[in-house]
Amino acid sequence: MIYGLRILVTGGAGYIGCHAVKELVKAGHRVTVLDNLSKGHRAAVKDANFVQADLARKKIVTELLQAEQIEAVMHFAASSLVGESMQHPAAYYQNNVVNGLNLLEAMREAGVTYLVFSSTAAVYGEPIATPITEDHPTLPTNPYGATKLAVEEALAWYYRAYGLKYISLRYFNAAGADPDGDLGEDHDPETHLIPLVLKVALGQLPAVKVFGSDYPTPDGTCIRDYIHVTDLAGAHVLAIEALAGGSEPAIYNLGNGSGYSVLEVIRTAEKVTGRVLPLNTTGRRPGDPAVLVAGPEKIRRELGWEPRYSDLPTIIETAWRWHRNHPRGFAEK
Ligand code: UFG
Repeated sequence: MIYGLRILVTGGAGYIGCHAVKELVKAGHRVTVLDNLSKGHRAAVKDANFVQADLARKKIVTELLQAEQIEAVMHFAASSLVGESMQHPAAYYQNNVVNGLNLLEAMREAGVTYLVFSSTAAVYGEPIATPITEDHPTLPTNPYGATKLAVEEALAWYYRAYGLKYISLRYFNAAGADPDGDLGEDHDPETHLIPLVLKVALGQLPAVKVFGSDYPTPDGTCIRDYIHVTDLAGAHVLAIEALAGGSEPAIYNLGNGSGYSVLEVIRTAEKVTGRVLPLNTTGRRPGDPAVLVAGPEKIRRELGWEPRYSDLPTIIETAWRWHRNHPRGFAEK
């Protein structure tokens, strides 16, 4: 175990970032969050230093790394919506690639050599084999996945040339909320299935839209691998400690290896909430693969990662507690 690392978390006020900050602090690390609050919430950062700044301002980032004597970085700050990326690729290249490279350059200038990078299953594109293992070809079908892959490729070259050691974590579907009830999902606009389903359960939305019922799956709806955000956060702690302990660069999938259909998610949410959820089946959402399920063995084997909360009822129960207790998210009740 490695304690007391000084870690900069970019995007630490966002959904996944804030859960990771909580786990890092619990594990005894000293965290500084850098977030421009374009999507994140100041109230989501509880036990860490907070700096409101944008990665576009490289000098500020370099100075922060130096002033705080940062030893390792976790990089969550990014734009992450597939549909939006199709409409605004330039914004995705700017925010994810240009600002991502600013961070790498700032790290180089400040001599920081460990990075845990938030990547995505979207780097694989339409799967040619399921479950998807890390050696599956990377052929992204949208700018979001392409920009994340571009940074992964830069990391491989930065390692070779400058010795920057990284672990890239390719998330499948992050879901659920902090089991203590302090943190949860609060996006505007919300596009993800589980929070939308729970907003219907709360009466904030009239019906769950089901995007397509004619996929080649048992019930005709898309299958995804949902992973609890606290389990995902725990993997980041293992990854940063592995790097600081001398591990070589690596890429890992983060999923559970089991898939659930959209209808299974909705039925489970009905059981958890005790409410009947009206459905509205519409056409397919462009760009959605039928099935995305991870082969997650590599991170279990190499980092000893074990999910604790990742069965679907637990994911939905924790999310439900958050949404019921915080119907306006992180805003004041
Ligand atoms: N869905 C619906 N109705 C909705 C919202 C979603 O039926 O109102 C369906 C989608 O079609 C999809 C599934 O529910 O089949 C999950 O959709 P989400 O939007 O919750 O998540 P995605 O699988 O689209 O996206 C996730 C991550 C992305 C990542 C992508 C990889 O959120 O960051 O996986 O493909 F890029």
